[in-house]
Amino acid sequence: MRSIALLGVTTLALGLALAASPKEEGKKKEEKPRADIATDDNLDLPNYDLSLDSYGEIIDPSLYEELYDYNDLAPKIEVGTLAPPTKRLEGVGSTRAMPTEAPRRPPPTSPTTKPFGPGLLGSITKQGLPTCLVCVCLSTSVYCDDAELEQIPPLPLETTYLYARFNRISCIRASDFARLKKLKRIDLTSNFISWVDEDSFRLLSTLQELILAENRLTALPALPSSIVRLDARLNRIQSSGVRPEAFRELKKLQFLHLSDNKLDYIPVPLPEGLRSLHLQNNNIRTMHKDTFCESQDHGHVRWALEDIRLDRNPINLSLFPDAYFCLPRLPIGHFY
Ligand SMILES: *[C@@H]1O[C@H](CO)[C@@H](O)[C@H](O)[C@H]1NC(C)=O
Repeated sequence: MRSIALLGVTTLALGLALAASPKEEGKKKEEKPRADIATDDNLDLPNYDLSLDSYGEIIDPSLYEELYDYNDLAPKIEVGTLAPPTKRLEGVGSTRAMPTEAPRRPPPTSPTTKPFGPGLLGSITKQGLPTCLVCVCLSTSVYCDDAELEQIPPLPLETTYLYARFNRISCIRASDFARLKKLKRIDLTSNFISWVDEDSFRLLSTLQELILAENRLTALPALPSSIVRLDARLNRIQSSGVRPEAFRELKKLQFLHLSDNKLDYIPVPLPEGLRSLHLQNNNIRTMHKDTFCESQDHGHVRWALEDIRLDRNPINLSLFPDAYFCLPRLPIGHFY
């Protein structure tokens, strides 16, 4: 934890130093095309500014002051000697609480949520550190990986990308993301999530990527129509946990990765824009001849769907000879 907090402060200092140096400015511009290539797992999506090169350009010290009021902490922080406070920051009413923060964030609505205290400086973990010290906040990206979190911490309202991988989060509350209107990506890989409130993600109208791999889900949460990529690999999702026609209205969905679950059926209908369907290592035994292609319409071509994985399922794909005519490629799986 100490090293994460340190990294945060060091990275912030580095970012500011880079932004201030005119020499580095030129260098950054030269490197920019490379940054565009390296951004996004070849996802080919617009506006993903996740490369380190672009951080320097968007870090604005005044933005930090506005979003995260460090006044209370600044005197105590010395890069290289930072130690986390040993006492929890006190909640509302304490002299250490930030009174100016209080109106910005109402108290948590869920009775099961721990009282976080006012705003971003409220104590949130056993370590008693504010969110942006437990996590690393870089511009609008918040990195909370491997931070021993048991729930989603209160996040800055500007948060666009959230990484909270390798924690112990077991449940997602509707209130966790409710006020975050700029979220594009949530990555909760490798937690203990077994419960998601019905409206936790459905109302996030800017969310493009939801990554819930390596959790304990038995059902799929409802998704917003903006979703491009859903990754819920390595869970315990059953077909009974996928609502009928769950994906029909998700017109932007391109990547649906549900491998290593307990599905009995291929979820239908599949949206026309789908590019990648991973269902390997489930319990799929059969399918309908209209699962991929409209059997009545031999002119139907699903140009986009090039990547179907059905291997490691007990299905004999040879039994459905008319099911693949519209696909640019046969599914990967057993044609016994
Ligand atoms: C799979 O289906 C094909 C086509 O009906 C059949 O010839 C083959 O024996 C089946 N394989 C198995 C292992 O059932």
